[in-house]
Amino acid sequence: MLKDEIAKRSTIIEDEINRYLKPNEPGELYKAARHLISAGGKRLRPVLSLLSAEAIGEDVNRILPAAVAIEIIHNFTLIHDDIMDKDALRRGVPTVHVRWDEPTAILAGDTLFAKAFEILTECNVDAENVVRASRVLADVCVKICEGQYLDMSFERKSEISEKEYIDMIQKKTAVLIAASCSLPAILFGKDEKIVKTLWNFGLLSGTAFQIHDDVLDIIGGDKIGKDWCSDILEGKKTLIIINAKKRGVEIEIFGKGSAEEREKKNAVEKLISCGAIDYAKSMAYDYLKEAKSNLYTLEKTQARDLLEEIADYLISRDY
Ligand code: IPE
Ligand code: IPE
Ligand code: MG
Ligand code: MG
Ligand code: MG
Repeated sequence: MLKDEIAKRSTIIEDEINRYLKPNEPGELYKAARHLISAGGKRLRPVLSLLSAEAIGEDVNRILPAAVAIEIIHNFTLIHDDIMDKDALRRGVPTVHVRWDEPTAILAGDTLFAKAFEILTECNVDAENVVRASRVLADVCVKICEGQYLDMSFERKSEISEKEYIDMIQKKTAVLIAASCSLPAILFGKDEKIVKTLWNFGLLSGTAFQIHDDVLDIIGGDKIGKDWCSDILEGKKTLIIINAKKRGVEIEIFGKGSAEEREKKNAVEKLISCGAIDYAKSMAYDYLKEAKSNLYTLEKTQARDLLEEIADYLISRDY
């Protein structure tokens, strides 16, 4: 079962994260840096890395540090993202800037960011491939900043096209998933064609993943462990909002910062009944289909089948 296969691999990741991220002094800084990591998370990105290494027939143990580095970068972006999005809840626990304060959250994120690159160098592969992987990962981090900047700047712009939205989510989210899938191939010095195949698989699945995340912000309920309707209150130009606008639907609480429970329910009802949620779901499905088509050029193995299953899970998950 997919769940067991994910659990098996995330246990390995858990142990490795704890080995690399030990409590340290100043105690509160390291507690803040480890806060979200200890709260859980699906660990999808490092699991994708392990499965990608298996799918190309290589020993996952040699690139475990890369999988850990990617999860740590992800956690760094989450800490900073929650400051930007003014969110109070993540993984069912208070966000770092709420539990501590903004300066501590900024530093906790920065600490993880730097640690990730240090950990990456621990991969047991040729040094020149570690250099290549570091360059790719650094470029991915730059793209995430660009994407996060666009995400925020779109809040202040009235007309955002679907194309602009897709470009933004590919930068803020999909490139890290692309890196999760392709870094193992880079570290093992595989052909450019294999690297590209895994990159494209990750980029397109990551695009579908973020569209689904935007859907969950609205219809996910308590299970997601994050602030409900945060995107609507912050005035995020998601695909759902772009589509609802095209249909002439007005959401009163859009960009208002806060709202009553009943007003949020009303907004959700409108977005569902106008068809904008279904529209976003079908776009996510199309991106995922395209993503999976990349996998068929790889040899059929259990790992390839699992990559396909995990991709389906990215847009069917309920948290
Ligand atoms: C949340 O990612 C941030 C996005 C890019 C949408 P995940 O949904 O993978 O978060 P965790 O790691 O499971 O908490
Ligand atoms: C997250 O996008 C992107 C990054 C963390 C880089 P969101 O802002 O939608 O993620 P959540 O919903 O807060 O997890
Ligand atoms: Mg956010
Ligand atoms: Mg955000
Ligand atoms: Mg979100």
